[in-house]
Amino acid sequence: MAIVSRIIGTGSHLPEKIITNDELSKKVDTSDEWITERTGIRERRVVKDGETTSILALQAAENALEAANITPADIDVIIVATTTPDNTFPSTATKVQAMLGMHHGYGFDIQAVCSGFIYALSVADGMIRSGQANRVLVIGAEVISRILDWTDRSTCVLFGDGAGAVVLAGFDDSDGDTSRVLSTHLHSDGRLREILHVDGGPGSTGTIGHLRMLGREVFRHAVNNLAAVAEEALAANNLTSSDIDWLVPHQANKRILDGTAKKLGLNDDQVVITVDRHANTSAASIPLALDEAVRDGRIEKGQIILMEAMGGGLTWGSALLRW
Ligand code: UT7
Repeated sequence: MAIVSRIIGTGSHLPEKIITNDELSKKVDTSDEWITERTGIRERRVVKDGETTSILALQAAENALEAANITPADIDVIIVATTTPDNTFPSTATKVQAMLGMHHGYGFDIQAVCSGFIYALSVADGMIRSGQANRVLVIGAEVISRILDWTDRSTCVLFGDGAGAVVLAGFDDSDGDTSRVLSTHLHSDGRLREILHVDGGPGSTGTIGHLRMLGREVFRHAVNNLAAVAEEALAANNLTSSDIDWLVPHQANKRILDGTAKKLGLNDDQVVITVDRHANTSAASIPLALDEAVRDGRIEKGQIILMEAMGGGLTWGSALLRW
């Protein structure tokens, strides 16, 4: 007998305000044609004044709890993956804990930028399998719009705000159900921090700073690292890419998604895509895409799901699941 972890509910939430490429082209020197061709992005959601990461996270969490048919009383731990916490401290997770009316257990944030959800899922899976927790609320939530330089066309057109969440729960694997997190694999290489970073912070400049990216460099690493981490996940489980039913990737750029799918020999219709409507929502993008594909019925019980992401750090990683 061993304990395994399973996703028992998903949820997501997007701010109402939509900014189209045409609207952006009135603010910076860009065009719908350039953004669509280079990235596949058509529009993004952006928070309004007063709308924060914790507010988006709370909505996504409540939707995931409802889908799992449980209440905050059933949760042991809250993990929020975010690069845009409401405050430098305390953690956004403890804020969400209070907003949920949860007075037991504990919460903490994870910072791995766009790979944050994979990191958080990996930590939650480890906690469950080691018996440290039984039900973990794993949230990816971001208001990246607040750290963008809205005069820099090379970055401001690429990102959006949102939140996604899953409830990960522990089960005795002798119950005959093969659904579970099969493996997670995490990586980072701090030598590459300059190619995607924020030029400020509480411990350096005392300011929030703005997101800076050498897009072409990041793109090159993304295609290589994502294919490698996907192969690593498959090899660790004695599977091949033909076993994958769905790729639920971090949504940075449609060209990266196409490149990764091609390297894995997957068809376009096996890739869950939201980047056209959400842009890059950093740690929120995978749980947002997952929730969409679960709710519209594309993801079905027993299927093999590969999630992968790369982000600032650089960080990258994968999670392989049997649904
Ligand atoms: O989630 C974290 C991971 N992030 C990513 O994975 C992002 C990875 N990178 C990318 O997605 C792409 O590199 C970008 C979409 C950022 C850029 O696409 P690209 O095909 O690599 O373009 P580029 O950076 O090579 O720039 C091409 C040209 C440049 O002009 P010159 O130097 O050739 O005259 C840019 O100045 O496009 C120009 N450009 C723009 N033009 C119109 C850059 N941004 C814009 C823009 N509108 N918004």
